[in-house]
Amino acid sequence: TSPFAPRHLLSIADLTPAEFATLVRNAASHKRTIKSGAIPQSLLGSMSGKTVAMMFNKRSTRTRVSTEAATVQMGGHPMFLGKDDIQLGVNESVYDTSVVISSMVSCIVARVAKHSDVADLAKHSSVPVINALCDSFHPLQIIADFLTIYESFTPKAHGLSSLGLEGLKIAWVGDANNVLFDLAIGATKMGVDMAVATPKGYEIPNEMLDIIQRAGEGVAAPGKLTQTNVPEEAVKDADILVTDTWVSMGQEEEAKKRMKAFEGFQITTELAQRGGAKESWKFMHCLPRHPEEVSDEVFYSPRSLVFPEAENRLWAAIAALEGFVVNKGKIVE
Ligand code: CP
Ligand code: NVA
Repeated sequence: TSPFAPRHLLSIADLTPAEFATLVRNAASHKRTIKSGAIPQSLLGSMSGKTVAMMFNKRSTRTRVSTEAATVQMGGHPMFLGKDDIQLGVNESVYDTSVVISSMVSCIVARVAKHSDVADLAKHSSVPVINALCDSFHPLQIIADFLTIYESFTPKAHGLSSLGLEGLKIAWVGDANNVLFDLAIGATKMGVDMAVATPKGYEIPNEMLDIIQRAGEGVAAPGKLTQTNVPEEAVKDADILVTDTWVSMGQEEEAKKRMKAFEGFQITTELAQRGGAKESWKFMHCLPRHPEEVSDEVFYSPRSLVFPEAENRLWAAIAALEGFVVNKGKIVE
């Protein structure tokens, strides 16, 4: 790659632990400042004159709204390009689209199906590409998730490369999907342990286990990942119970088969009790949510962090645009 090649954000794996922790801390600090009524000087107009092309091949509420709102708050212009708006996929290749769009805008935020599509887009783009969800990763979600955890648990004293969350345990009960993969990468980097319970046949693929393992390289005490097919086992001693839909976008044809396979994997108060989660356990979900993966009782309870977690997508988007567009990939405090 040329020294002028832009830096992209395709996965949390692209970030060092210090960079990931810094993005989360920056998001927290912008949230505090902006909510107190001030706008940090560093952000004010920092995206002025900059267009963010948002290429979305799939539906989105949070990612779309947070990216558009973040761009506007920073003085830039978001340009939403849905799958019926542009030639991509119908009349035009990823290569041609990437070269053309990136010649006119300052950033591309892309939600596509295959990871290789967003990676190709990035390869040929002259501006930063931020992954807005693909089959393998969802980095903006995971910055928001760690912001939520950072705000909800008392961080220990920590240096630049950490958020002080070491020793926490996350239990993921459900499908091994894009959100889980990036969450596990973030957890490994932050020294947070994860236990994952999926039905048989729905475990984390080996290539992804390798990527998660590599996320711990150079980390003094990386978070440990364990897998099981028994939800109760994963939940044991967990501080946070997390899940996501059992049928991700693009898997609609498998819906019936999946519903059957995931029976018994709903997160409920009883499951948390039977499994022996920590007394004070919290619940997280990236949304959108369906009742089969988590009971109403848990979802709407005081344990549930889902709405602050959703709001945190805005602050995560601001931190990511600042780091990757305004500061050209230099992630600094
Ligand atoms: N969590 C999330 O990415 O939601 P959307 O699909 O609504 O953007
Ligand atoms: N795993 C879900 C996340 C949606 C935000 C999907 O890919 O559809």
